Amino acid sequence: EKLVVLSCGGGNGSHVTATITAARPNTESRVLTLFADEAERWTKAMGNDNMEVNIAYSDGTSREVKGKPALITKDPAKAVKGADIIFIVLPAFAHTDYFKAIAPHVSPNTVIVGLPGQAGFNINCIYEMGDTSKKCAIANFETLPFNCRIVEFGRKAQIIGFKGYCAGSVIMGQSKPKMAPMDMIQSILGPDCRYDDMGNFVAIYLLAKSICHPPLMYGRWSKWDGQPLDEAPLFYQGVDQWQADLLEGIGDECVAIAKDIEKKRPGTKMDAVIPMLDWMKRSYCELIADSSTLYHANRTNKGYDGLRHPMIRTKEGKFLPDFSTRYLSEDIPYGLVVMKGIGELSGTKTPVIDEVITWCQKKLGKEYLIGSELKGKDLVETRAPQKYGYMTLEQLFSIM
Ligand code: NAI
Repeated sequence: EKLVVLSCGGGNGSHVTATITAARPNTESRVLTLFADEAERWTKAMGNDNMEVNIAYSDGTSREVKGKPALITKDPAKAVKGADIIFIVLPAFAHTDYFKAIAPHVSPNTVIVGLPGQAGFNINCIYEMGDTSKKCAIANFETLPFNCRIVEFGRKAQIIGFKGYCAGSVIMGQSKPKMAPMDMIQSILGPDCRYDDMGNFVAIYLLAKSICHPPLMYGRWSKWDGQPLDEAPLFYQGVDQWQADLLEGIGDECVAIAKDIEKKRPGTKMDAVIPMLDWMKRSYCELIADSSTLYHANRTNKGYDGLRHPMIRTKEGKFLPDFSTRYLSEDIPYGLVVMKGIGELSGTKTPVIDEVITWCQKKLGKEYLIGSELKGKDLVETRAPQKYGYMTLEQLFSIM
């Protein structure tokens, strides 16, 4: 069956989805980017040529995928008309603008996919798209199924590695899409990653990988002496025991929230939420040389090769930490704060999450948490369930 597939965004991930989609038989690939003159630049850079994505596999082999999107535009009406599925492949702060832009043009039975949606994706979508969203299926994934980067804007991208597994969820609403959403997604993105429906959108929020960056930033920089460094420290492979403990602590608190939800709502399955070390083993498998502890797993994961702390270069060629990075500006309001919000609904104590948010919000100049309660003035800028008026677990789960 012919599918019309729209990728939203003009970044690394969207380059990949647009190309893979275009290469699929009987598929029309389109791109919507609202950002600056990106659509124009992309169209021009591509010209009459195919786009290319080079996929590197962990066994050392590689493969080239070529395809040409039929349309790259800034115009939501043209992009959305007749689309069967819409991949939102963007940093979370941009989601609201896209929901607003596409809402008037989306037809019933469209599948809207957060790839990745980050925590709070569905409730953000429903809030912005209102009744339209109820006639759509809304899927959300814990992470992007591949690590990728643009090699040449509008022309070439590279997949550095596929994750073998990606957990997701679908809220069907009153929709009846052309194919079951998970099957459709698997069939479009191909067999390199397995897309799994965990049946529960809240579990996916607690699994979102935005929980990794803030504890590692806090652990590395909260006790830093303020002196410029000669080089950017390795982000994961350079963790110390305290950072690993913080990461583990946050993962464990998410598991505790999941267990409390199961207790309070018998029949709700939250077993998708697993400890951080288990998640890492599942996602990176043989890339990890020593998975005996979270500390060792971080330090010996080849999938993390070359990933360093975001830094600012000084005039003298030294390095200072960059606190304006998405590791904080995105992963706090659209990550940890959402998890904390769910924890408040489940009545779970989250001392490690609180400690990390407290330091990070200072760096961001924001106030989400006061003491251990989410009642700061900037809560409205987050995707915590409370911001959308979900004040009990029942209310939150009612959207399923
Ligand atoms: P990206 O950084 O390449 O996305 C940039 C795009 O976002 C721009 O091209 C533009 O279209 C849009 N954008 C940027 N600033 C904007 C603004 N001020 N207003 C409106 N739009 C703006 O992102 P990427 O790499 O494609 O990642 C997408 C999501 O996937 C992010 O949430 C990222 O954290 C996540 N992710 C990415 C991975 C990767 O390997 N690239 C791996 C795992 C997760």
